[in-house]
Amino acid sequence: MVMDISGLNFLNKDQILKEKNETDFYAKDWTGHYKPDAKLVLFPRTSIEVQKIVLWALESKVSLVPSGGRTGLSAGALAQSGECIVSFEKMNQILDWNEADMSLKVQAGVITETVQKEVQKKGYLFPVDFGAVGSSHIGGNVATNAGGINVLKYGMTRNWVTHLTVVTGEGKVLNLGRQLIKNNVGFDLMNLFIASEGTLGLITEVGLRVTQKPKEQTAFLVLIQDVSQAIEVLSAFRKSCDLAAFEIFSQQTIPLLSKHSGRKFPLQAQSEYALIFDVLGDSSEALDVFSDLLESEKLVDGVLSESAEQYEQMWFWREQITESLSELKPYKSDISVRPSKIPEFFSWVESFIKIEYAGFNVFLFGHVGDGNIHVNITKPESMKHEDFLLECQRLTPVLFQKIQDMGGSISAEHGVGLIKRDFLHYSLSEVEIDYLRSIKNVFDPQGILNPGKLLPNL
Ligand code: FAD
Ligand code: MLT
Ligand code: ZN
Repeated sequence: MVMDISGLNFLNKDQILKEKNETDFYAKDWTGHYKPDAKLVLFPRTSIEVQKIVLWALESKVSLVPSGGRTGLSAGALAQSGECIVSFEKMNQILDWNEADMSLKVQAGVITETVQKEVQKKGYLFPVDFGAVGSSHIGGNVATNAGGINVLKYGMTRNWVTHLTVVTGEGKVLNLGRQLIKNNVGFDLMNLFIASEGTLGLITEVGLRVTQKPKEQTAFLVLIQDVSQAIEVLSAFRKSCDLAAFEIFSQQTIPLLSKHSGRKFPLQAQSEYALIFDVLGDSSEALDVFSDLLESEKLVDGVLSESAEQYEQMWFWREQITESLSELKPYKSDISVRPSKIPEFFSWVESFIKIEYAGFNVFLFGHVGDGNIHVNITKPESMKHEDFLLECQRLTPVLFQKIQDMGGSISAEHGVGLIKRDFLHYSLSEVEIDYLRSIKNVFDPQGILNPGKLLPNL
């Protein structure tokens, strides 16, 4: 069907893409398994233009897929049946900085790293941080409630949002939150749009609060033999130190990163897992804890950063895992359990894969301090990719059943998108899913916003 775009004459030529070879680029995210199919890509510059696009879509019965930096890992920004993409790429203005309020206001398409740098220039910290900040948009972070490495201390994106301008699926513009720290006027509509993955409204402007920069920050990179030691080490440091990140990765990731980068891992000893964590402020107490743990053999070995360069070099081994695994096209799942249950989860996954999927490799890594693990599984070399995808389909419900049995969540930080939509019942009751549907109907009664994402089809 040809889309009538005469109603879009409020946009300039450079705000519309129609050619398939151009639209494909904007019609998919990092997930990679799906074929993109978008009819059109639109690039609004203001909230008013976004509102006009929604009103045009309602009139023309066109579905809209919001698209940020397309680094999402749940196929949330994917167009797969001729939808119209609304890209926020041109909504990249910093709108306001207020020193007294320690608060920044930006358009939704500002790159996350730009926000970080802008805030840093002012002498403060915007603590949401993860491997894709060089490409992801702040609007995408809000739409997915992005987590990352600093959640243990600073919480998820939600904790930093003080305002959202949103255009609903009815074409109404809402100004929510108003950059106030305290604002209890009934139901919290602003928070409903955080993690809504573009299904309730298009986020056009974001107000953020910021915090103080830590005076000192030391990274510790340590080796442990057994995953239960990860939780012991976490508790030991947490008692007396101010921890920001606390991350784990299995040793299989190390040769991949070495191959990719030519760099040499700074520790020689053999072990099953490595931990990397940040201690804020004076590190002398942390050094005492570190020595005690080495002495009691809870740690196999370890180093700490003594310069900004060493700090960067140590974090490289955690931050580059996703990139270096990507060429192996792994099966990926982002889950959470309570941190105390991490050892049970690790030993279950590892023995399950060993028994049921001989020849497959499992790479476990993630934000162990907050209970969020990324399960990445790769196929035996001889297996065809299509056969691997079928095996993954068989694996998903078993993995999610285990997560449900453990009281965990099938999506910790990457969101539901398309890939977990049909598995929501492992984390939510039927009653909860019905309430989500009712909320969707309030803000997007014609179902034009990101159809087929987040909520299972009836
Ligand atoms: P997109 O991928 O473009 O979109 C994500 C979702 O948000 C889609 O549903 C889209 O429709 C919707 N959306 C985008 N913009 C808007 C808007 N303005 N209004 C309404 N809806 C919108 N995530 C983490 O949480 N923690 C991590 O540690 C982490 N590490 C990563 C590392 C790598 C190397 C990669 C590739 C990804 C990682 N991610 C991580 C996933 C991803 O970066 C986040 O989910 C991020 O928040 C997505 O932002 P984006 O702008 O790229 O959004
Ligand atoms: C990470 O923490 O590195 C990510 O969320 C990305 C991934 O799961 O690959
Ligand atoms: Zn992560």
